[in-house]
Amino acid sequence: MPIRLPLSLARCCRLACASLPRHGFHTAASHCKARTGAEHLWLTRHLKDPFVKAARVESYRCRSAFKLLEMDTRHRILRPGLRVLDCGAAPGAWSQVAVQRVNAAGTDPSSPVGFVLGVDLLHIAPLGGATFLCPADVTDPRTWQRIRELLPGGRADVILSDMAPNATGIRGLDHDRLIGLCLLLLDVAPNVLCPGGTFLCKTWAGSQSHRLQKRLTEEFQGTRTLKPEASRKESSEVYLLATQYRRAEGPGRA
Ligand SMILES: C[S@@+](CC[C@H](N)C(=O)[O-])C[C@H]1O[C@@H](n2cnc3c(N)ncnc32)[C@H](O)[C@@H]1O
Repeated sequence: MPIRLPLSLARCCRLACASLPRHGFHTAASHCKARTGAEHLWLTRHLKDPFVKAARVESYRCRSAFKLLEMDTRHRILRPGLRVLDCGAAPGAWSQVAVQRVNAAGTDPSSPVGFVLGVDLLHIAPLGGATFLCPADVTDPRTWQRIRELLPGGRADVILSDMAPNATGIRGLDHDRLIGLCLLLLDVAPNVLCPGGTFLCKTWAGSQSHRLQKRLTEEFQGTRTLKPEASRKESSEVYLLATQYRRAEGPGRA
């Protein structure tokens, strides 16, 4: 089951996450000083988390970088020269990983240069090698028009989604909303994702997961369920990786 934080705690989480590279832990803790016992417990666990520490050491904006690093190392999702659309990109850790792996900043002159476009409802601080479209809502058709204008050739080779709607605390509703976002990405994929392309999305396991799984199986040649080390064991969070997209044009919504 997803870890559902009360809204104030979710805010605290975002602060802690976003403050990693710039301010360190003391600032994050002081933001949350006058908060409840549950929030204090969460913050204590967060600060002890080895992935949080590693993110700080390696200058990643968030611990989630290690999820993508692991999945990419095992499954070779990102390669130099690929165009990546990173949905739900704030604060930008997955985009950092994507920029490195597709050589979007051109740091390796002997490899093809890729492209990374991150989209989020929230502001994302600039990152060398990445283009950010924010604030932007993937449920708004105008966002997809801009995405296609910004992507070289109007298409991505890889769509990543680590999107998560604000948790309401109602498990079924949160699950339905996340599945809805993933299905929406599949609806627009015919107009955005290249034939043979890759799709990686976060989901919370639940009653509607089969709908997403069915679409992926129909529309891609291969699908896998991944649970990277950095994804907390007690969370129902899993990632679905679908490869070799079969569709190119179609009645998409973008
Ligand atoms: C877990 S965070 C992503 C972390 C990111 N992968 C990273 O590594 O920095 C989930 C993000 O999804 C975004 N999100 C949720 N719904 C969205 C929507 N409809 N359109 C765009 N972004 C959305 C949230 O604003 C939030 O920043």
